[in-house]
Amino acid sequence: MQPVTHSHARRLKTKKDSTVSLMSQRSTIYRSRIPGGGGGMHVFHVFSCASSSASFHYCIIGAQHGSRHQATPNRLPTTSSPTRLPLAMEQNRVVARPIRCKAAVCKAAGEPLEMEEVEVAPPRAHEVRIKVVCTSPCHSDITFWRMKDGPNMFPCILGHEAVGVVESVGEHVQEAAVGDTVVPVFLAQCGECADCRSARSNLCSALPTRPGMPRDGTTRFSLAATGEPVHNFLSVSSFAEYTVVDVAHVVRVGDALPPEKACLLSCGVATGIGAAWKVAAVEPGSTVAVFGLGAVGLAVAQGSKMRGATRIIGIDLNPDKFETGKKLGITDFVNPNGIGEQTVSEVIKEMTGGAGADYCFECIGSVSVMAEAFRSSRMGWGKTVVLGVDGSAAPISIPSLDIMRGRSVVGSYLGGIKPKDDIPVLARKCLDKELELDEFITHQMGFDEINRGLDLLAQGKCLRCIIWMEMDGGAVEDGA
Ligand SMILES: NC(=O)c1ccc[n+]([C@@H]2O[C@H](COP(=O)([O-])OP(=O)(O)OC[C@H]3O[C@@H](n4cnc5c(N)ncnc54)[C@H](O)[C@@H]3O)[C@@H](O)[C@H]2O)c1
Ligand SMILES: [Zn+2]
Ligand SMILES: [Zn+2]
Repeated sequence: MQPVTHSHARRLKTKKDSTVSLMSQRSTIYRSRIPGGGGGMHVFHVFSCASSSASFHYCIIGAQHGSRHQATPNRLPTTSSPTRLPLAMEQNRVVARPIRCKAAVCKAAGEPLEMEEVEVAPPRAHEVRIKVVCTSPCHSDITFWRMKDGPNMFPCILGHEAVGVVESVGEHVQEAAVGDTVVPVFLAQCGECADCRSARSNLCSALPTRPGMPRDGTTRFSLAATGEPVHNFLSVSSFAEYTVVDVAHVVRVGDALPPEKACLLSCGVATGIGAAWKVAAVEPGSTVAVFGLGAVGLAVAQGSKMRGATRIIGIDLNPDKFETGKKLGITDFVNPNGIGEQTVSEVIKEMTGGAGADYCFECIGSVSVMAEAFRSSRMGWGKTVVLGVDGSAAPISIPSLDIMRGRSVVGSYLGGIKPKDDIPVLARKCLDKELELDEFITHQMGFDEINRGLDLLAQGKCLRCIIWMEMDGGAVEDGA
């Protein structure tokens, strides 16, 4: 570790890098380069004598991920986790200071997001502050964005599919360190509650989904200009250059996987693969029907193919989805607009010799399609998995006798994936080329274009649009 002068640190701070630092008049700043960081990332350990008792703080400076105008987005720096601080230093660590940065703020349901300067408070106990590298809109963002009377409070910062680098950590954070590459996830895994300890559930009962930060319901965001609170969304809020996430909601994924792929494991793709793999446990030789061929549905197709399904029928109103679908395992395509008077379930029964599909997956969020998926399933053992989010939470109408005839329906958040256990497994499968994610990335753009990215998804013109955060020296420490 080499000491650097205060002025050196200030000079670094003005570079076109992301820059966060503790600047005290009487601080000694030590710089340690993260091994393999290629000069792009440093951890600054700041030994502060500003208060009567010397204290220790660490934060990350200079995680450079590319500039606004680069044609090809940079990869995450190849970092390894910095060495953990000695315990005594950990205990004496000064809490990080607020950061000001850009965020796409949703001020009212359905209104375009507005790029604002926000203040991101330091992480509290059990929390980490993450420098978001890239994020991608998922249809659930659109559902909540449009919802006028939903649980969302405005203004808020949407976004829950992302990857980033831990910038600072709060007290009692053991499992993530500054510089770690992490995927934030809307579901927690505390690892200790009855649900986390059971293989049968991925819904942490200690930290259930709730508005605001998981442990206290508050937010770490405010508008820089007015101080007005900006609400958190799904415990992630990734449409911001920096976000604070509870450590129970982050998964360390290492640096080997390109960020745009790690990002997809944060929600949509993990949900689809997990649904085929864990919720349905699709058996070899099965027939599968997938309703809705967005990223979730196509990940179901890929997961079903990986598990040996031989026939995978894709149902979508948009015929363009079939072309991509074929590459990911879809064998047959049904367009509900092209079957005349017949219903989709009648067509699927015809295609399966009158029986129906072994597994049906609803990946749209429409209760009428959920019921149609159920009707498309086979008597005896047909299983329907509901993944789509119907914003109104309307009931599904299913004949009780059909349930007695052995058909079942089950829903699942995140495809039954236990974030900390299963996402690293999916990341490994990507590296081993067992899981192919390239086809899911149909668009990439800079943060300023986020409204275009949302529109593309809302209009069904993209699968996943990777939004790269732009550094541009934009993030500055409050009061610096
Ligand atoms: N359960 C979970 O944890 C979880 C996770 C991620 C997403 N979701 C939900 O899954 C759903 C899909 O998400 P996505 O990001 O893949 O969305 P998407 O918008 O990319 O895909 C939806 C697809 O459904 C098609 N579609 C729409 N209405 C249709 C209809 N009536 N019949 C046939 N096809 C129709 C569209 O053309 C589109 O291809 C959304 O409801 C989303 O909220 C749930
Ligand atoms: Zn738990
Ligand atoms: Zn999602």
